Amino acid sequence: MMPDWQTLFALRPLGSRAMGLTLPELVGPVWFASANSADLTELPADSFLTSVESARASAFKFGQPRENFTLGRLAGKLSLAAAASASAPRSPALSPGGGEGEERVRRLRSFKIENGERGEPVVRAGDLKSPAHAVSLSHVNGLGVAVAFPARERVGLDLELIDARRAETVRKGVPLSAEEEDWLKTPLLPEATALLLLWTARESLGKALGCGLACKWETLALQRIEQVSEGGWSGIFLHHPQFRCWSWVGPEAVMSLAFTPA
Ligand SMILES: CC(C)(COP(=O)(O)OP(=O)(O)OC[C@H]1O[C@@H](n2cnc3c(N)ncnc32)[C@H](O)[C@@H]1OP(=O)(O)O)[C@@H](O)C(=O)NCCC(=O)NCCS
Repeated sequence: MMPDWQTLFALRPLGSRAMGLTLPELVGPVWFASANSADLTELPADSFLTSVESARASAFKFGQPRENFTLGRLAGKLSLAAAASASAPRSPALSPGGGEGEERVRRLRSFKIENGERGEPVVRAGDLKSPAHAVSLSHVNGLGVAVAFPARERVGLDLELIDARRAETVRKGVPLSAEEEDWLKTPLLPEATALLLLWTARESLGKALGCGLACKWETLALQRIEQVSEGGWSGIFLHHPQFRCWSWVGPEAVMSLAFTPA
């Protein structure tokens, strides 16, 4: 069953921020983590970013994109650390209450999240050429989210703030499938939220496929989307029936996760 939005974003000590999500038929859980602006007062960026990541953060001319990038990296590293601790129980777990600060920071810094040719996140863990887990991440102003998953799987995550102007851009700029248009006519969500849910679902598939949005619009279209819980939705894709999508609608944002059940 999908956790609700509150569970996903419940404030916890940083060290135990990541939570395992069981996806249907996927072997083992994936690990979700979020990070917000306040976390950076507890953990300054330079303490957990590698020199390459710090250089990339510094290249942003403006503070907000720099912070967003940093929050994505922090969420990514928290999710990777939790996944690694769960699959190798002898490796030291992050301390839930803070404490052991040096060790915690060293572990976060040991996960390097770079970007491949298409912008996709590429994980390097210590000297491992083939780390056990990959990551997908997304950031909006003041919030970063990430999911760590077994490297052989294909998973994508996308987050958007609920914003009428952004929804209008989707409405005007994205050709929707007949199925998506039909779904929009069902008054289960305000239209702006529904459009952004469709958008995050499509982007999550683009990330899972590795193309991002650099593909034909229709490639990412949804065939069906159903409500499965309060604030929880499940979707399947028109041209990629091997993928599923889970979406969460929160008070201020929408998030979607695309994955391939076995
Ligand atoms: C991937 C994409 C959809 C990101 O969307 P966004 O809403 O702007 O940003 P989000 O915060 O949700 O996601 C950004 C993260 O997606 C990830 N990402 C970027 N490209 C990706 C891809 N092709 N596949 C998987 N993940 C990707 C990155 O980790 C990125 O964060 P980072 O740069 O801090 O590492 C968008 O950048 C895109 O379509 N890129 C495709 C390439 C493209 O069109 N390039 C244009 C210039 S050539």
